[in-house]
Amino acid sequence: MKQALIFFVLSLLMGVFVVFKIATLQADTTKTENSTTETENSTTQNGKTPFAEGCDKCHGDETAYKEWTQAGHSHALVNLLEGKYEVRTSCLSCHSSGYEIFAEHGIPGHPYNEKTAVNAVACSSCHSHASKEEHLLVMPAKKLCVTCHKMDCGCAGAGVIHQSQTEMFLGREGAGVKRMPSPHVRVMKKRCVHCHMAKVEKKDEKEVETRHGGHTFKADLSDCSSAGCHDSADNDMTKKLPLYRAEIDAMMKEVKTILDNAADKTSEAYIDAKLNYDMVKGDSGYGLHNIPYARALLQHSLSLKPQIIRTVDQ
Ligand code: HEC
Ligand code: HEC
Ligand code: HEC
Ligand code: HEC
Ligand code: HEC
Repeated sequence: MKQALIFFVLSLLMGVFVVFKIATLQADTTKTENSTTETENSTTQNGKTPFAEGCDKCHGDETAYKEWTQAGHSHALVNLLEGKYEVRTSCLSCHSSGYEIFAEHGIPGHPYNEKTAVNAVACSSCHSHASKEEHLLVMPAKKLCVTCHKMDCGCAGAGVIHQSQTEMFLGREGAGVKRMPSPHVRVMKKRCVHCHMAKVEKKDEKEVETRHGGHTFKADLSDCSSAGCHDSADNDMTKKLPLYRAEIDAMMKEVKTILDNAADKTSEAYIDAKLNYDMVKGDSGYGLHNIPYARALLQHSLSLKPQIIRTVDQ
């Protein structure tokens, strides 16, 4: 009897504590929501929410942090929430750092979802002090970017077509074309990181604002000749790329005309031709990450013209 009473009192105390804790957390979260609208970049820097990652406390003055604030990754959450698509909690797996962490080691009763989320694609999406990888990366650099930058977000039926850099770079998933990895896959051990985080020596103080690479994740064509790869006159990428682009653009227009004129948009031929078109378009607009593959994909789409047109005649 005495034991039961102690147990009851203890349970009551715990209940009160939990309710109190929830109330404070909720108050904090509302505060964060308000400040999110005021300064969209400071979401990850707001220490008041239990979900803030807090890396800025020690790393806030470093170049990596400052560069990150200038790049798309720091807007990934805002762009998701304000985007034109219906948001599901699972979208956060790529659009917000906290999802993976708090879904696993979450605060009981406080799910990390689209209403409580505060982090964009922030430091802890890619780094962890618990990691043994170089630069404390959560996985080797070559695997990191492709976990998120893929066509299929795994959000079946959500109607979002994500971009296709991974599939194009690795030359796969297209219809009717054999695997064709970009020649860069072999020579660039860190894959996406090789071009998108390459740092150039800054020539003077003013250049710091426009400098690409590092945590801005901006690639620049001036890198192509830097390692002695595309440095001869007939291999100059700043001249060759516009030509490639014109060629691919022309093919895309041709495919688009065929797609627009198809009567049966459920036929296999139409679906295949459209997939290839969307893949090329989803990769910087013209298949930049693998031009030979882009060409092959569009050629296959064009070869389906008789079948797509035949469905019109029926
Ligand atoms: C956790 C998922 C995730 C990972 C890992 C990731 N990205 Fe992103 N990335 C995104 C999202 C989401 C966006 C869209 C941001 C937005 O809304 O503009 C994006 C945008 C970008 C952009 C466009 C940036 C801009 O300023 O418009 C580049 C370039 C990019 N990522 C490169 C990379 C590279 C290189 C890596 C690997 C080092 C990488 N990403 C790893 C999710 C990720
Ligand atoms: C597998 C990772 C992943 C998942 C899951 C994911 N996204 Fe994305 N999302 C990205 C990446 C990466 C980008 C940046 C575009 C790119 O380069 O691929 C992006 C960009 C976007 C953009 C800005 C560009 C655009 O297409 O307008 C919106 C909006 C968006 N995603 C919405 C969503 C929604 C809604 C969901 C859930 C239904 C979702 N995303 C789930 C990875 C993902
Ligand atoms: C999208 C993934 C991604 C995000 C987000 C990211 N990093 Fe990194 N970071 C990397 C990769 C990849 C490297 C290794 C680059 C290399 O191997 O050249 C790196 C390297 C570093 C380094 C060591 C070398 C350098 O470039 O300065 C520091 C420090 C660092 N990151 C800090 C941060 C901080 C702080 C944040 C949050 C503002 C952050 N990173 C966000 C991917 C990321
Ligand atoms: C209490 C201070 C503190 C906090 C908070 C902190 N770090 Fe660090 N971090 C350090 C110190 C100290 C080092 C080792 C010295 C150095 O290399 O800068 C370090 C090293 C790193 C490195 C390796 C840099 C390299 O040159 O390879 C990365 C990446 C990193 N931290 C990421 C993070 C991320 C992501 C977070 C938030 C989840 C975080 N840190 C939070 C203090 C901190
Ligand atoms: C050979 C160098 C190279 C490699 C490797 C590479 N990229 Fe790119 N990427 C570029 C260039 C150049 C651009 C065009 C940049 C621009 O238009 O400002 C670009 C554009 C992009 C964009 C669109 C950026 C924007 O601002 O809209 C994204 C996203 C992207 N790459 C992601 C990736 C991912 C993910 C990988 C790995 C699967 C990768 N890239 C591998 C060179 C590269």
